[in-house]
Amino acid sequence: MSKVIINTKNTKGIINKNIYGQFAEHLGRCIYEGLYVGEDSEIPNTNGMRNDVVEALKELDIPVLRWPGGCFADDYHWRDGIGDKDKRPYMVNTNWGGVVENNHFGTHEFFDLCEQLGCEPYITGNVGSGTVKEMRDWIEYMTFDGDSPLANERRKNGREKPWKLKYFGVGNENWGCGGGMRPEYYSDLYRQFRTFIRDYGDEPIYKVGCGANANDTNWTKVVLENAGHCMDGISWHNYTYEGDWNNKGSSYDFDENGWYSVFADVERMRKRLNDHIAAMDYVDPDGKVDLLVDEWGNWYDVMPGTNPGFLLQQNTMRDAVSGMVILHMFHEANRRVKMANIAQMVNVLQAMVLTEGERIALTPTYHLFKMMKGHHDGTLVDAFYDSKCYDTDGESVPKISVSPSIKDDILTTTIANTSLDEDETLEIELDRSFTDISAQVLTADNMCDFNSFDEPDKVVPKPLAVTLDGNKVSITVPAMSIAAITLK
Ligand code: AHR
Repeated sequence: MSKVIINTKNTKGIINKNIYGQFAEHLGRCIYEGLYVGEDSEIPNTNGMRNDVVEALKELDIPVLRWPGGCFADDYHWRDGIGDKDKRPYMVNTNWGGVVENNHFGTHEFFDLCEQLGCEPYITGNVGSGTVKEMRDWIEYMTFDGDSPLANERRKNGREKPWKLKYFGVGNENWGCGGGMRPEYYSDLYRQFRTFIRDYGDEPIYKVGCGANANDTNWTKVVLENAGHCMDGISWHNYTYEGDWNNKGSSYDFDENGWYSVFADVERMRKRLNDHIAAMDYVDPDGKVDLLVDEWGNWYDVMPGTNPGFLLQQNTMRDAVSGMVILHMFHEANRRVKMANIAQMVNVLQAMVLTEGERIALTPTYHLFKMMKGHHDGTLVDAFYDSKCYDTDGESVPKISVSPSIKDDILTTTIANTSLDEDETLEIELDRSFTDISAQVLTADNMCDFNSFDEPDKVVPKPLAVTLDGNKVSITVPAMSIAAITLK
């Protein structure tokens, strides 16, 4: 039994709903087949976007969607993706499987998808192989309301009014697939490119500098020192896995060690996040620049027999439980972390939805994101508790992770139990009373269970017994599960 004391008066910052953001890249079957099947497809669609996937994703209240990459962004030339579809040039997707990209999903289709999902667009521009002019023209094409050749070209292509573009990234992983640059060189390029990202709309465009990989705090520090004064946010990418980069483990066929080693890597991620925040605090003590974890998630070996460049993997309770621990980590770091985008939304890495032809399956990670909705823009409040820890891969992995937030007088408390075999009974003491309580749980019979196309409801949320007595809550959170309690 563990005791948790929740003090709603001890507030710890706002959980920006954008940390529940998503990422969709021209990679494998994320865009094509996953989100976009084209207007002529037999799969029911609206302007080419498949209705079943969009309907499922709408349930998540996605706040923001990042596109077109990833590595693809620094190889993408936006002009190839506008105008008549049958005249759009083909290109080779050199980053992801060498497949031919027909550019049928471009700027207009992306904004249409965002409108269908009701989310903000976050576009990443091409620094690695693009030009300053190409980027400045794209911004004018998308956001200028007046009479200009580019705005008129947009109108000719079917969009009268400019789109509202809130977030724009200046390159992606420019230390790697985005150009192999040093931070000093990238900083100068950032300063040059961002100068020509003009504000044509009412609101200034929020500009994101390319940030570091995993533990490279030097990149964060140098880029902020040289260009932080003209940046709204800097990104950071961190993937978690079971083994090492060359042997990341199977997504659906793992043993107990495989389960716990992912949680050990989550603890390493926590240390790295704190290191990047410390580097930011050193260079930017007033906290003017936000941290955007615009790629994160579990990355495993691809499914056997699939194109290694398509990054297709299964999704189990291990992903839902570790995903909750990571989202709680972002809650705690809300002072700096203002956005996060899980990689990726459909059919790639730690996806929400998997598709095969006309069939779809919603993953345990999808259900995690649905269960966390009460936290969007909530105020994090203090939870005091002690957790048992497991020693794994040289890390101390807490058995439970608890995160409460309050919004509109509703207290949402989410709890992850990382143990494979021990339930956890919690006695939660609150500093105020509520009159109504309910709880949900997501768990599975076996740690490797997943939702297949034949058995799409194997791992789905269910009601969980919970009692409220005055200001005391009692609940038992099963082994390898996540739970969400709602108090009104
Ligand atoms: O999400 C897959 C890839 O991971 C992205 O394209 C790249 O930015 C990162 O290395």
